[in-house]
Amino acid sequence: MPEFAPQILRFDSLPSTNTEAAQRATAGAAEGLCIVAAEQSAGRGRLQRQWVSTKDAGLYFSIILRPRLEPSAWPLLTLTAAVAVHDALREACALETDIKWPNDILVNEKKLSGILAETVETPLGRAVVVGIGINLTDRSFPAELEPVATSVEAATGRPPDLEVVLEALVKSLGKRYVALQDLNGPDEIVREWCARSSYAQGKHVRVSEASESFVGTTRGLEPDGALRVETDHRGIRSELRIVRAGDVASVRADRTA
Ligand code: BTN
Repeated sequence: MPEFAPQILRFDSLPSTNTEAAQRATAGAAEGLCIVAAEQSAGRGRLQRQWVSTKDAGLYFSIILRPRLEPSAWPLLTLTAAVAVHDALREACALETDIKWPNDILVNEKKLSGILAETVETPLGRAVVVGIGINLTDRSFPAELEPVATSVEAATGRPPDLEVVLEALVKSLGKRYVALQDLNGPDEIVREWCARSSYAQGKHVRVSEASESFVGTTRGLEPDGALRVETDHRGIRSELRIVRAGDVASVRADRTA
């Protein structure tokens, strides 16, 4: 496999680093191109949500990848990114985080970082743009985010150096992405994700899918990264459901929020 050589392009302001990266992927940019902006005017999250992207309050980052993976393994890219963010925050900020399925990075059940992976059809084949937002400080959070979001500064008591976080992130992403494409890479990333997530096993969660929601207990991941949830039905454990899309919330966090 050719060497993975990230290159970073920086901007003062962009609508969205994911949009910029997708345009460049369509124009033929090589994998490993990273886009970083000091602020985003139209930062996007999962499920059509907005990602608040105040100037210098967070790391707003996207990377173009052109994976050589079986289609069934593509969902593992977001889990790979979550493992990389977890490890980068440990290395750069000595911060221990949790991962909520599939790829929210939490501290004390509050969100500190989110990941948005978007596929793009390009003349060089299908690419994926992995966008990562990390809240570095919460000083300018809008009031509605305060109960549900946190930042590196709030969690560690120190404002982090963006460049130190960025360097650790690019390094850990590159390492995990290369490893994912090895022979046993998919199994390994599932193992590494489970080792870092309290949501992998035995967590009581509410799963919200497009048309229904249900409550159950997590029972690990499928080989493609889908979440296994054993449903509670009037106190009796019933079927094992495989969750591939939707939102997962800790039931205990629901009650205290
Ligand atoms: C989520 O948890 O909903 C995903 C949030 C992803 C936010 C990042 S910030 C950098 C990149 N550009 C975007 O517009 N979104 C992602």
